[in-house]
Amino acid sequence: MLNRRAFLTRLIGSLSVTAFGPMTLLRQAWARVLPGTLAADPRRPQIHLLPAANWMNDPNGPIYWKGNYHMFYQYNPNGAYWGDMHWGHAVSPDMVHWRHLPVALAPTPGGPDSAGCFSGTAVVHGDRVALLYTGVVAASENEATIRDGEHSLRESQCLAFSTDRDLNAWTKEPLPVIPTPPPGMDVSGFRDPSPWRHGDWWYMVVGSGFRGKGGTMLLYRSKDLRHWDYLHLLSQGAGNGKSTANPVDSGDMWECPDFFPLGDKYVLIHSAEGKSFWQAGIFDAKELVFHPEQSGVLDYGSFYAPKTQLDANQNRILWGWISEKRPLEEYRASGWAGMMSLPRILTLDRDENLCMMVSPEVDKLRRSPQTLILSDKEESIRQQLARMRISDGCGEILCSVKAASGEFHVSIVGDGEATQWLNVKYTAARPGEITLDEKTVPLRSDNINEIELHFYIDGSVMEAFVNRQIAYTKRFYYPGSSAPPVGIRISDKTNFSSLTMWQLSPISSNRLTT
Ligand code: FRU
Repeated sequence: MLNRRAFLTRLIGSLSVTAFGPMTLLRQAWARVLPGTLAADPRRPQIHLLPAANWMNDPNGPIYWKGNYHMFYQYNPNGAYWGDMHWGHAVSPDMVHWRHLPVALAPTPGGPDSAGCFSGTAVVHGDRVALLYTGVVAASENEATIRDGEHSLRESQCLAFSTDRDLNAWTKEPLPVIPTPPPGMDVSGFRDPSPWRHGDWWYMVVGSGFRGKGGTMLLYRSKDLRHWDYLHLLSQGAGNGKSTANPVDSGDMWECPDFFPLGDKYVLIHSAEGKSFWQAGIFDAKELVFHPEQSGVLDYGSFYAPKTQLDANQNRILWGWISEKRPLEEYRASGWAGMMSLPRILTLDRDENLCMMVSPEVDKLRRSPQTLILSDKEESIRQQLARMRISDGCGEILCSVKAASGEFHVSIVGDGEATQWLNVKYTAARPGEITLDEKTVPLRSDNINEIELHFYIDGSVMEAFVNRQIAYTKRFYYPGSSAPPVGIRISDKTNFSSLTMWQLSPISSNRLTT
């Protein structure tokens, strides 16, 4: 959060010598990028959800309601930079094709969200949909719950309701439903409420933490979503021991918690230190205590602040914010920043490890398959791969590699051999790990004969999955006005047992997802 906000604060700070000077300069600096320019930017995705222009971050309150999927997200209507947080809104029949709807939540002057509507959750309550979200207001240092060296903001948990079929009209409760953290608690943050229903009660975790001690989740309970009782900490981390201005960076503040049943276990998710983490285990519903048994990293790349929902078939779907990895000045000038991940179905394997795969809804976009004809002759494989191409920067590659055969090195390349966008390396000598670019990450390898590699490539993003257990979201940027052709390259020792490549059909005619 610091980095996004830091830019804005620094810019305003450096310009605040005259009353109207900053606004004039800000308007110049953030001149609107025209829709035609955005539509022609080959780095903009064609199958990922993002606003028609400007900045987005976290998914907020994804929900299936009256036959449609609704996605809300952190949105700045003023430009492609973090600030002035609103809840953007889009609707879809299938989690793939989206239509933008008017902004759902905007800060109310003088209200508990006057400085921003931060992240939260949507739930169905009776015949209405409720949004629980964090409102922020400017506050003095000693009243603030966000003190990160750049900001002084007070957070409270707020509530809004909608009854209409399209969820267009929202009525906010004028006062916060949880105005302050529990009395006597000196917390490092207090945000991103995440409720769930259990029996007759609503339970809710709120992301929080203690400086120098670690991140945490505060557990609350309510009958009506309006009156909440604080119970205890549902989970407590240890932090990384570093002393950072922003407690999120030291793991002393956990953002965007989510807690949900999966099979006969429970999963807890939180985000901190630039990554998102999962824990799976047992929820003692009597004592209201979570006993984690397994844990891991949800995605090793540009993926943060995820949120889950149930789809129409009761699958648990994970959505994440895919952030930019180019300099802030560059994305601000491009007129857009950030996108939503593809919907990923979560499951637990028999050892309680979290697995994920992109929802089969996305398979509907496949066209023009190109399949590798297997051969013992290395030259034949090379020649075929050299001809296989994804054009227009939007496609999918699914392959299986024989792990027992020793080692392999697979690269996704742009422009022939010229640019390696992603490298995957494996050696049977170290079966418990795999290397994605520079990162070597654990691979659960019991009885692995084949390693499945799955890549979704779209404009300037690649979502990569290894054996449905490792996810790695990669951003890559290239100059110019068209996307280079994408291909796959291999080392001598790579031994495929299958490989297919598809073009993926854009979800809108103009990259604006309208
Ligand atoms: C995570 C986060 C949340 C907060 C929101 C503000 O990226 O920092 O904790 O509610 O973004 O935009």
